[in-house]
This record gives sequence, structure tokens and C-alpha cells, in this order.
Amino acid sequence: MSVQQVGKIPPFLAACRRQPVPYTPIWVMRQAGRYLPEYRALRSKGDFATLTRTPEFAAEVTLQPLRRFQLDAAILFSDIMTPLQGMGVDLTFEPGPVVREPIRTDAQIDALPELVPERDVPFVLESIKLIRPNLPRGTPLIGFAGGPFTLLCYLVCGRPSKEFGAARSFLYAQRQSAERLLDKLGDAMAVYLGAQAAAGAQALMLFESWAGLLAPPEFQRFALRAVRRTMAALRSTGLPLIYYVNQGSALMESVADLDVDVIGVDWRSPLGTVRRVLGPEKAVQGNLDPAALFAEPRDLERHVDAVLDAAGPAPGHIFNLGHGIWPETSPDAVARLVDYVHERTSRAPASKAEEVGT
Ligand code: CP3
Repeated sequence: MSVQQVGKIPPFLAACRRQPVPYTPIWVMRQAGRYLPEYRALRSKGDFATLTRTPEFAAEVTLQPLRRFQLDAAILFSDIMTPLQGMGVDLTFEPGPVVREPIRTDAQIDALPELVPERDVPFVLESIKLIRPNLPRGTPLIGFAGGPFTLLCYLVCGRPSKEFGAARSFLYAQRQSAERLLDKLGDAMAVYLGAQAAAGAQALMLFESWAGLLAPPEFQRFALRAVRRTMAALRSTGLPLIYYVNQGSALMESVADLDVDVIGVDWRSPLGTVRRVLGPEKAVQGNLDPAALFAEPRDLERHVDAVLDAAGPAPGHIFNLGHGIWPETSPDAVARLVDYVHERTSRAPASKAEEVGT
């Protein structure tokens, strides 16, 4: 591949593939949302589910943070529970997902229909088609879904929870039912993400937000087994695949041989250790504590430096928070974060020294 061709790849996609980048790309988990006044203004006109189901609204909300900040990726405005709603699961957002009849029996698992994206969630595909031509600066669009185990947590417990006890005891008490449910969810998410790719998504991300609830053997046996199926089915899209493992510092060895391009981690996992354990074949994404956005500007820069130093000079780092941005965050802090990551990392290569030296 010629140097020119490499230069044309957006930095986010290049970093996913561990190629050299002109600066470290950055995007922010939950970058479209309540910390932005323009999101709150739209949100006051309709509930969350209506926003996600109306392509014009979903596209607008997706683009809002890209107009304010020099972000290197957009992420579709939707929710991990949206495809399940499309499959007929009765749920509401309050604001976290609340499932009217939690899934506990084989009969309920068997009754879950297959997902047919064009029929069940056409608005998601429409939103992607609306977003793509309107992305500023040729910014790539990330499509996403929930990790099968994280979806199981909500389906079995019925609502957000700290420990998701009912979901974890389900794994131990009804092992085969749990595996059946996870396989079904994993396959549905593969179909869902495949449809997002066909509609125009340029990278695919699976959020395993509750991975850290499991010890490595259960994580491997339940969560990872299903994720392998999902990711294997998506390889043929040719798009970068990202697996976000929240609270996964004890799980890095388990995911090291998963066939994905990028592993996303939270702030509790030191990036240097993560990179050593994952080896040179994987890029990493993360991992500033969302709380660090409340630091004084100078202090925030030092916290960003620490993340960048831990990630090291090897290609294949995408800067992000370690988990979703908090609604109370000041948009000014986000602007400072994005600009500082770009400024500090484009200073590094010798070829850039002249540009920055004035
Ligand atoms: O900007 C983006 O990242 C895209 C939008 C997005 C939302 N949810 C919008 C949302 C994404 C990627 C998600 C994923 C999601 N949803 C995850 C995985 C990521 C993570 O944070 O771990 C999870 C676990 C959920 C489930 C969920 N949905 C919760 C726990 C909540 C309530 C908490 C909250 O942030 O309010 C939701 C609702 C939700 N999803 C909102 C938004 C903007 C708030 C709805 C509102 O406006 O009232």
C-alpha cells in the first residue's frame, strides 16, 4: 500500500488496524447524550425511544457532538436494548432499560424470535444511511450492539442493578438455558451488526459493559463463547471489530486470542499491562476515568498524559474514556480533552516538529 493511500485512511480506522497515524484518534463513549444542551433540547420534544426510532432525530443526535468537537469517530445514536425491543421484548427506558417480563424459563427463551433487521429495526438502518453522507471531515461511523452476556443481564434481571444477582445465579442454576439464551443473543447481534455494516457502518463495536461481574472461567464459558460466534460471523464484513470489556482487568488473558481488532478497556486496567497481555496483534481503546473530566484543566492534561504514556508509542491506540461520559460533564472539558489529545500526540513524530515549533 502506498504512503498516500495510508494517509487517506481516517486516523480512527488506521489505529484500529494498528497502522501509523498523524495523531492519536479520540472519540468518547456516550458522546451523544445528556451532557450536551442541544441533546437535552431535542430530548424535551420526545422520549428516548422515540428519538432512537426516528431516523431524522437519531441522525441529528449522532452528529451533534461532531459539530462541537474534532472527534475522530461518530457512534450511532441508539441503545443496546433497541434490537431486543425489535424482537418483541416489552421494555421501557426509565432511563435505564426495564423489561416488563424478565426472562427466566426455557419457554421464554424459545419464544424469542430471530431478528430480521429490515423488518424489526428498519429505523436503525435508515439512520445509518442518513448519517453517512452528513458526517463532517469524512469521520467514520461506528455501529454497535450489546455483548450477549450484558444483554442477558438486563433480560434476566429486568432492570439495571449493581450486582445483577439474578443473572449470575441464572448462569449457575440454569447453565444450559443460559447458554441457549446467549447463543441466541450472540447470533441475533451478528445479524444486527451485519445489517449495520451493509447500511454503511465503518467499524463494529460490541459493548460488554458487565463483563467484570464474572470470574475468568465463567466469563470464558458464557460471555466469551457467545462473543466468539458473533465476531466470527462478522469477519466477512472486512470492518474493524471492537470488543469493549468493562472492569475486565482479570479477563485480558481470556480475550487475548479473541479474533477482533481492538479491545476497549476501562480506567482500572493499566494500558501498559493490557498491551503486554494482549500482544502486538491487537489495538486498544481507552481509558481515561470519566471523573477526570472534572479536574482543573492543567490536571486534566496530566491525566491524559498518563493514559498516553501508558499506551506507549506503538501504533494501535484509540483514546477514549474508560466508560460512558457522565451527564453532569461540562462540554468545555470535552473540547479541552479532544484538542489536547490531538495536540500532544501530533507533536511526537520528528516530522511534525516544525509545525508545532512556532
Ligand atoms: O453516544 C453514544 O455512545 C451512543 C448512544 C448509546 C446509548 N446507549 C444512548 C443512551 C450507546 C452506545 C448506548 C449503549 C448502552 N446502553 C450500554 C453500553 C455502554 C455502557 O454505558 O456501558 C448500556 C449498558 C446501555 C443500557 C442503558 N441505556 C442504560 C444503563 C441507560 C441509562 C443510563 C443513562 O445513561 O441514562 C440507558 C438509556 C440511554 N441510552 C440514554 C442514552 C442517551 C439516556 C436516555 C435519556 O435520554 O433519557
